[in-house]
Amino acid sequence: MTVLEYFIISNILKKVKEKFTMENKVCKILGIKKPVIAAAMTWITNAEFVAAVSNAGGAGVIGFNAGVTEAATDPVVAAENLRKQIRKVKELTDKPFGVNIMIAPQLDPFTQATLDVFETDRPDFVLALPIEPANPEIYKRLKELDIKIVSRPMNSTVENMIAAEKAGADVLICTGSEEGGHAPEINVSLISRFPEIKKAVSIPLMAAGGIADFLAAKAVCAMGADGIYAGTRFIVSKENPAAQSVKEKIIDTKAEELIHIPANPGYLYLVPNATSLECKKMESDGKSREEISAYYSQQGSFRTGMLLGNQDEGFINCSQAINVITDIKTCKEIVDELAEPFES
Ligand SMILES: Cc1cc2nc3c(=O)[nH]c(=O)nc-3n(C[C@H](O)[C@H](O)[C@H](O)COP(=O)(O)O)c2cc1C
Repeated sequence: MTVLEYFIISNILKKVKEKFTMENKVCKILGIKKPVIAAAMTWITNAEFVAAVSNAGGAGVIGFNAGVTEAATDPVVAAENLRKQIRKVKELTDKPFGVNIMIAPQLDPFTQATLDVFETDRPDFVLALPIEPANPEIYKRLKELDIKIVSRPMNSTVENMIAAEKAGADVLICTGSEEGGHAPEINVSLISRFPEIKKAVSIPLMAAGGIADFLAAKAVCAMGADGIYAGTRFIVSKENPAAQSVKEKIIDTKAEELIHIPANPGYLYLVPNATSLECKKMESDGKSREEISAYYSQQGSFRTGMLLGNQDEGFINCSQAINVITDIKTCKEIVDELAEPFES
């Protein structure tokens, strides 16, 4: 093959790939190139990381406690922190990005303050975590502000997913119990849950929970997913603000070693350390999930373990899919890998 022939063929292939992703429903709705969203993760999804994902063609989401090292107890302070993060992302990219928001039955002062920020500093979409029965007023306000809603009910039951669709979500995420973060109270894996939800809803549906490489992305693409929502894989990226020791620890830990504990809410998969082992002991001793969560909160949980990298206190939380995470990649490499099955 001559250089010219090679150049022509690779350009045709590039155009075909672009056509596929441009026709992807999630890409169309969110205005992104690749149907991959890096999950909102408390403390470790700051502006620089979010912009790196969005610049890679996917979409980043500013999470709770983004860009700070101390939790804001005052809603006004939390809102100003968020405003700074939104402005920072906009300095670093002109591509779409999201902000994590809880949609509880009652409008709490933190969510109200977040909505106030959106009056002047808007993200392109929110990554909503509805707590059913989710407050319809919040959905309405987001619609009035022309902000797209990607909704991820914590328990992906048919009932909860349909409720989110009816309330005004533009995109839904179906989450399996193998996920990182607070895994669902109802213990159903993604492969068992996804087909049921795909049949029940009519808006685009992304998949989440244990997706950390090309093969897992390909599997959910084959099940009819419209895109990937991944957290743990992105922790082990060059641009993620988690401590370097956390990234290395996730690479070195095996799924078989993870400590599974009741949390408030749901469950957590934790890397073995003093805090996670004590939580497991508390569970065997018959302590309640409230007592267990009070203990790990006092130890500093996500902040101390993951952002500050203190592995004697706090904890390192991740999904079950860590055995396929063997190196620290750039966000662009991860977005490209997870988007690949959707491009052919
Ligand atoms: C360390 C960590 C913190 C998380 N924090 C949040 C959060 O604050 N809000 C949220 O909606 N989801 C949170 N999640 C869940 C993710 O948004 C997402 O559902 C999950 O990471 C997907 O599964 P995966 O980790 O297997 O990719 C967190 C996940 C992790 C690993």
